[in-house]
Amino acid sequence: MDDKIKALMSKRREASLGGGEERIAKHHAKGRFTARERIQMLLDEGSFEEFDMLKEHRCQHFGMASKQFPGDGVVVGYGTIEGRLVYVFSQDFTVFGGSLSETFAEKICKIMDMAVKNGAPVIGLNDSGGARIQEGIESLAGYTEIFQRNVMSSGVIPQISGIFGPCAGGAVYSPALTDFTVMVEKNSYMFLTGPKVVKTVTHEDVDVEGLGGASIHTTKSGVAHLAYPNEEETIQAIRELVSYIPQNNLVTTQKKETSDPADREIPELNAIIPENPNHAYDMKEVIKLTADDGEFMEIQPDYAANLIIGFARYGGTSVGIVANQPQVLAGVLDNDASIKGARFVRFCDCFNIPVVTFVDVPGFMPGTVQEHGGIIRNGAKLLYAYAEATIPKVTITTRKSYGGAYCVMSSKHLRGDINYAWPCAEIAVMGAKGATEILYAREIKAAGDKASEVTTEKEAEYTEKFANPYEAAKRGYIDDIIRPLRTRLRICKALDMLENKQDANPPKKHGNIPL
Ligand code: HXC
Repeated sequence: MDDKIKALMSKRREASLGGGEERIAKHHAKGRFTARERIQMLLDEGSFEEFDMLKEHRCQHFGMASKQFPGDGVVVGYGTIEGRLVYVFSQDFTVFGGSLSETFAEKICKIMDMAVKNGAPVIGLNDSGGARIQEGIESLAGYTEIFQRNVMSSGVIPQISGIFGPCAGGAVYSPALTDFTVMVEKNSYMFLTGPKVVKTVTHEDVDVEGLGGASIHTTKSGVAHLAYPNEEETIQAIRELVSYIPQNNLVTTQKKETSDPADREIPELNAIIPENPNHAYDMKEVIKLTADDGEFMEIQPDYAANLIIGFARYGGTSVGIVANQPQVLAGVLDNDASIKGARFVRFCDCFNIPVVTFVDVPGFMPGTVQEHGGIIRNGAKLLYAYAEATIPKVTITTRKSYGGAYCVMSSKHLRGDINYAWPCAEIAVMGAKGATEILYAREIKAAGDKASEVTTEKEAEYTEKFANPYEAAKRGYIDDIIRPLRTRLRICKALDMLENKQDANPPKKHGNIPL
């Protein structure tokens, strides 16, 4: 028996070295951790249980029969994060460049199936040269089996992707189908076709970073949600993200104990809105001042920064935050912001995470760029997401809420549960300037030299009558006008009250969100 145990241990040792010591050294020299080291950093110490460590590929072409690395380039299994079960796969670049074979895909599919049955998140750590070139169609089949499972798991269990090296070709579609993608700055990239193909087809000169590095995907394309300077911080961010989300779609996120009192008053908020309505302030301050212990995990901070999204807690309850940012483009809703917000609200709705919305929005962005870019279709996405969401929805209007943007931003009419406004809120069909120009065009023209006086007078009249929260409160569209310093208390109480909220949509196969 001892001999057999020794033989087993030897096989396991061999498998744990992946592509071998030389390739590991080469990998480390690039400033990268191995697949196993990443898993160790991700999971609670000693919690990892591995499957299929000795699985081998079945390829017979190109002399592959004699080239075997037990485990075949991907480490899979389960473990815990802060005591919570998660499933994980980690691609091993030291084995055939982390390329995906038929058996490699089978290993990933095995844990994806288990994760759905057992209702726990899947975290994929990607570092791969794509399809195993020696295999061909089996590899494509393997990818597609994974994609199918990504889609079936969507909205059932949370799925998170970390990108630690190359992720190219069709391989990018698995991360793209997951809920969150986190990249390592300067050392990871995602693209459908690499720089050489780009040069041939479009004659553009571009390097991997400029084509699909973290700097592009977190600012321009919106493909990635977060990026960090090194692997340790990237993995830490994934752990933090997991803390805000539940195990699956049938449960809620466990509350986190906090010593931050729910009734904490925040006098700074009474003075945060500038006297001049055209001046900006930082909505992130409002979020941090009101949230438990000032903690806010922002998602996509550098993409469509006019709309803030992220996670925070109130009285220990994990919530999704959606907020207009007056500091960027005056907080206007444009194409990118609408898409960003819509996807996030839908994520929260899938996983029973209440949404707290802070509104200060002058409207939708006008102009040909936006109209030709499909602001009608894209704005409708955000509207659709809020309208179909049955999670608790608490909305605080801090200042402006005009026109279509009023309707969209979690208004009462989209089944907003609790809608509060600060006394300085301006809730109206449009701003005073635009309204005056349309309503009093004839009077202004007839006033000749006195046109500007008439305009000022009419604007003041309109502002007095409509740029306030009272018209909305009179109709019950705003549930209460609250003092800013009591915002945290009112949010905490609202979330407590809504804890057991039940709401449903009519039975249907699925809706037809304007994609
Ligand atoms: C088999 C691969 C491989 C692949 C790399 N290797 N990619 N083996 N299939 N796709 C092997 C190399 O032969 C090498 O083996 C080892 O991995 C490390 O590769 P290097 O090239 O030495 O590393 P590096 O210089 O860091 O370059 C990494 C790379 C490059 C940029 C990823 O290897 C590369 O361009 N690979 C091919 C990428 C590709 O075209 N993939 C197919 C895309 S099509 P040794 O033995 O020397 O260590 C696709 C379709 C998917 O993926 C569709 C899904 C629907």
